[in-house]
Amino acid sequence: MSERRPKDLEPVAGNGLLHRRLFLKGGAAVLGAGSLGLMTAAPAKDLPPWMGAPGRPLSGYGSRSPYEDHVRRRLLAATGADGAGGSWTPLEALEGMITPNPLHFERHHSGIPDIDPDRHRLLIHGMVDRALFFDMDALSRYPMVSRIQFIECSGNSYLAGLPRQPINDTCGVLHGLVSCSEWTGVPLSILLDEAGVDPDAGWIMAEGADAAAMNRSVPLAKAMDDALLAVYQNGERLRPEQGYPLRLFLPGYEGNMSIKWLRRIKVTAAPSMTREETSKYTDLLPDGRSLIFTYPMDVKSVITSPSPGLVLKGPGLYQISGMAWSGRGRIARVEVSADGGATWGEAALCEPVLDKAVTRFRMAWRWNGAETAILSRAVDETGAVQPTREAIIAAKGRKFAYHYNGIQAWGIDSEGQVANVYA
Ligand code: CO
Repeated sequence: MSERRPKDLEPVAGNGLLHRRLFLKGGAAVLGAGSLGLMTAAPAKDLPPWMGAPGRPLSGYGSRSPYEDHVRRRLLAATGADGAGGSWTPLEALEGMITPNPLHFERHHSGIPDIDPDRHRLLIHGMVDRALFFDMDALSRYPMVSRIQFIECSGNSYLAGLPRQPINDTCGVLHGLVSCSEWTGVPLSILLDEAGVDPDAGWIMAEGADAAAMNRSVPLAKAMDDALLAVYQNGERLRPEQGYPLRLFLPGYEGNMSIKWLRRIKVTAAPSMTREETSKYTDLLPDGRSLIFTYPMDVKSVITSPSPGLVLKGPGLYQISGMAWSGRGRIARVEVSADGGATWGEAALCEPVLDKAVTRFRMAWRWNGAETAILSRAVDETGAVQPTREAIIAAKGRKFAYHYNGIQAWGIDSEGQVANVYA
């Protein structure tokens, strides 16, 4: 161990980035307790107060520590009386790959309906041999599958990179319209097969039971490939704000296509050209044309710690932690820079690395206390590389609002304050 120590603590890239080996099995041991800032043990004299009497009784449904009560979704200021709006996941306060259900981001177009599951029905009709009705009991008899996958609003990260001047807010507000859960439900292909899809059909239209009757067209190929009728999220029934009692889940596709409170699937020959795919959710280009039906969310990553609002308390060793994801497959590699993008080192990816799931990455960094910027850049299994902000604006202008996936730079000043900067 001591033989390896000098080599392991040698930087792999500029400004003190250390080898990812430190976060692979057993690697942290070479750092030693002292360099991680651990306290050495002192003899206990007084017992802490919570050991002096029995604690709280059991409960039928768990709650978190009151000391964690500040960890909350931030609500979009524009959320209106009609229930339209959104809330961001506080990414800077979370770890691992799974988003806790109460902190999953929200986006609603007309509020959260209060649906009685006993009265909810799913209709499959249109270009099928036989139209079918399902209630929740009938659905529960079909074979279910579980998958850990992210969902991301197509407007996510717009605030992080497209305004002319950098907006300074938390990582959650800048990038928190993405969350990752284990989703359990019935593959849509099973029910479409049972209904008997017309060979001339090419699309479906999915519609929700909210007051907006939110609806989107989905290519039939996607519906037959990996679309899920999700009933459970992280082991419990869906939350109302996530579509209780039933939602469509389309892995890797922009979030609003995963229709919540799903009530109807119409099989069609062509896309239905709904409001949410014509006047909204299209990408306006510099020449005035718009891209339409842009579905997969491209490869992206962001460092969640350190990030704005979290302060570095002096020079020393820090753990850079972040998340990477791609709507086109698995994350292949994440690189981190601690010198504003001049040099890059490869981060450790935390297992499991799953298809269309959030992947956690880590990197050890010895901060020298000087002003700098830290960045992350993800590559997915198709070879797609997360682009710079400059490259995106050069290619697409600044009029579009969806699918922004530029590299995020966090500036760090000599006081250890972290801020959104354009590198
Ligand atoms: Co799109």
